[in-house]
Amino acid sequence: MGKIGVIGCGYVGLVTGVCLAELGNDVVCGDIDQKKIDGLSIGISPIYEPELQPILEQNLRQEKVSFTTDLDQVIREADILFIAVGTPTTAIGTSDLSQVNSVIDRIVSTAVDEKIVVMKSTVPVGTGDKFCQFFGCNGLSHISYVSNPEFLREGQAVHDFMVPDRVVIGGGGSGAVERIAKLYDSFEVPFIYTSTTNAELIKYASNAFLATKISFINEIANLCDEVGADVSVVAEGMGHDPRINPYFLRAGIGYGGSCFPKDVKALKQLAGHNGYHFELLSTVIEVNEMQKTRPVQKLRKHLGELYGRNIGVLGLTFKPHTDDIRESVGIDVVKLLQFEGARVIAFDPLGMDHAKKVLTGVEFVGDPYKVADGVEAIVIATEDPFYTELDWQQILEVMANPLVIDGRNILNPDSLPEGIILDQIGRGVRIVSSGSDYRDTQDVALNSLRKAS
Ligand code: UGA
Repeated sequence: MGKIGVIGCGYVGLVTGVCLAELGNDVVCGDIDQKKIDGLSIGISPIYEPELQPILEQNLRQEKVSFTTDLDQVIREADILFIAVGTPTTAIGTSDLSQVNSVIDRIVSTAVDEKIVVMKSTVPVGTGDKFCQFFGCNGLSHISYVSNPEFLREGQAVHDFMVPDRVVIGGGGSGAVERIAKLYDSFEVPFIYTSTTNAELIKYASNAFLATKISFINEIANLCDEVGADVSVVAEGMGHDPRINPYFLRAGIGYGGSCFPKDVKALKQLAGHNGYHFELLSTVIEVNEMQKTRPVQKLRKHLGELYGRNIGVLGLTFKPHTDDIRESVGIDVVKLLQFEGARVIAFDPLGMDHAKKVLTGVEFVGDPYKVADGVEAIVIATEDPFYTELDWQQILEVMANPLVIDGRNILNPDSLPEGIILDQIGRGVRIVSSGSDYRDTQDVALNSLRKAS
């Protein structure tokens, strides 16, 4: 069996490379970032991803995986070349393919023997067809092209690679598809063999559908707040219908990350460029943007003007168990609070170093309890179970107001100390009282806050 090359050592490339090595392949990973490669070569991962570190170290020790900045070496040594470079959003919402194009150029100019190019990066629908045509028209029949989209969630990427829901392989001809399928031989899941165009659209449509589910349940949550319903019960009741299913129905302050915001916008743009106005996606995006403002709206309802007020924020990454702050709602919440003139004290268990690079004027504290010190409210911006385990009595004692805006609905009012005013997304406002008898009318909570201040 030949060697596998992976070009691009970001989340997707690194996880793909290390996991392919773990499956028994010889893998060489390339990236132009010297610092990243120096670290990886001695087993230091540039990203935090659960389960990655031990298999990285083990496969390095067993010489199943290696890292280099010499991309020509990767192209020469490997006969299967995974491309996993970034496809960021341009100013007009399309995908920037410059990194992908430059890797393809390099493969074309370096490869002399048979190569299978496997696209892992999320590329616009039609990209595979264009590359296949280009290879065909330029006498590059030794290069085959396969689209093999990834469905990895950050924070669970190793698990998602090793235990996928499905494997999608797009392309055809010259045994390339069969060779790529063989890499995933041990997975007992559905394999979808199709065209590159279908494979590309499966990726976008999956992410766009998940984002739609989130925006939908968030709108239901906002309605729940108005009519006095509880979105977690509503979502549970909906989710028992297998046609709906219970996943991705967690209401909150919107989706973030390096994938959903980018991919939903790119799909909308792609539709537009092909003469179709994808109305639904415009609304999904708009609902998500509005949802990020919910904490500020709620705080204003409780406290009035936010100018000069001290607000604590717990959570700066786009989701728990990652240090990734790309398109993070927590970061946006901080910026919105600052725009209102509030002073922000913030904590995150993993993302603080990155957050410091993009936020100014924030007091970062290395201890979640310090976020509470003297603040008039706390906003929880990520769904991190860590926050449910905090000693909320201790937090309550040092807060100026007992107000908690739980932007991810992670706190259980029954486990909170008496006196906390808990405002969740689509679950109303509750003053936690002794026993399980808390009241859920906003007026009661507001009156109590007024008394307190
Ligand atoms: C997402 C998809 O879930 C993966 O299948 C896909 O492979 C990946 O994008 C990608 O395209 O590479 P990821 O961005 O890592 O994965 O994160 P998710 O766990 O999907 O969460 C995304 C955002 O949605 C987070 O901000 C999360 O807080 C939010 N979310 C998720 C909700 O607000 N409600 C939910 O019910 C679920």
